Amino acid sequence: MPETVTFHDPLEEGPPITLEVFEVPTDVTDAAQRIGKIPEPDPYYVDVGMLYRFAALEQVRRESGPEFVAQHVAVRGHMGTGKDHDIEQFAALLRLPYFRIPLTGEVRDITLIGSTKLHGDGKGGTESRWEDGDITRALRGPALVNLSELNAAGAETLFALHGLLDRYQALDLPTGETVRLRDDVRLFGTMNPTDLRDYAGTQTLNKAFADRWVIWEKDFPTDEQLTSMLRRRYTTMADPYVEAIGRLAVEVNTSFQARDAATRVETPMSLRTVLDRLPAGLRMFQRADDPLRRAWETFVLPHVDPYDRDHYETVWSAVVRKGPGEPPFND
Ligand SMILES: Nc1ncnc2c1ncn2[C@@H]1O[C@H](COP(=O)(O)OP(=O)(O)OP(=O)(O)O)[C@@H](O)[C@H]1O
Ligand SMILES: [Mg+2]
Repeated sequence: MPETVTFHDPLEEGPPITLEVFEVPTDVTDAAQRIGKIPEPDPYYVDVGMLYRFAALEQVRRESGPEFVAQHVAVRGHMGTGKDHDIEQFAALLRLPYFRIPLTGEVRDITLIGSTKLHGDGKGGTESRWEDGDITRALRGPALVNLSELNAAGAETLFALHGLLDRYQALDLPTGETVRLRDDVRLFGTMNPTDLRDYAGTQTLNKAFADRWVIWEKDFPTDEQLTSMLRRRYTTMADPYVEAIGRLAVEVNTSFQARDAATRVETPMSLRTVLDRLPAGLRMFQRADDPLRRAWETFVLPHVDPYDRDHYETVWSAVVRKGPGEPPFND
């Protein structure tokens, strides 16, 4: 019996989806290395719907005929909304080796595709040999490739990927070799929205490139989603803290999306702030008079530009004013 994994719809609209997991064949040259790149499932991961959607598309792909061309998903959302984490967890559950390849403005197509390099021939001379780049190497076996920060990439880098992403489904190397998209390779991407705010080094995605992706929006998590992530991860965190942090994050992120530039905050509150930094601060200041306030001052405000502090503090005053009086953890 092949091993399977079942995905449940957190919105409870769709039925559970059961999929067979991938297996790395032993005849790929770098099998051991690839197996080492299968991510571990995160025990604290809470699917807010994206993982189930990935699974639903995967099911369509597996169950439909040749009339469907493989679709590649790009997740678009603000910083720290959990885009890369969703994609990584999909790889973990489907047991696919995970290759995260950032497409920063610096990266050139030779880094991604490959290049011809000179090597000593052992007889005092040199010979030139092709060396695969990051994407090419990933495509040679089962892989989930996450092209992160798609809208940071330069135009020529994107052009090199056009054929791979459309129905041609292959990469033509300068050596004349054609590397086809294997049946056990999945391509994903992430990007920040450019409509609302600047992200240094990003640009509006080239239209022809954007048209090669299914673009799914990752919204800021809701209060309910945040508190369930906090409770899953910090089982002993006292309720008033869980609730206050959830409200702070929701209000800051609502303010981030506000139209009025005079009062809105310019930095959203990321999942890293909520799930990593603030709880660390609560631990550190657990014996202080107001642990939440101290954690806020030490782990949140330093991320905010000085001119934006007032806006953050306005949210703090409106939502918390004074932190809970009890200890932050019941242990
Ligand atoms: N669904 C989730 N459940 C639990 N924790 C999560 C979830 N999503 C993200 N996290 C946590 O939040 C952190 C940030 O997520 P991630 O790096 O995926 O964000 P991102 O959207 O890719 O951010 P950026 O745009 O800055 O690259 C992760 O390291 C993880 O600890
Ligand atoms: Mg990311």
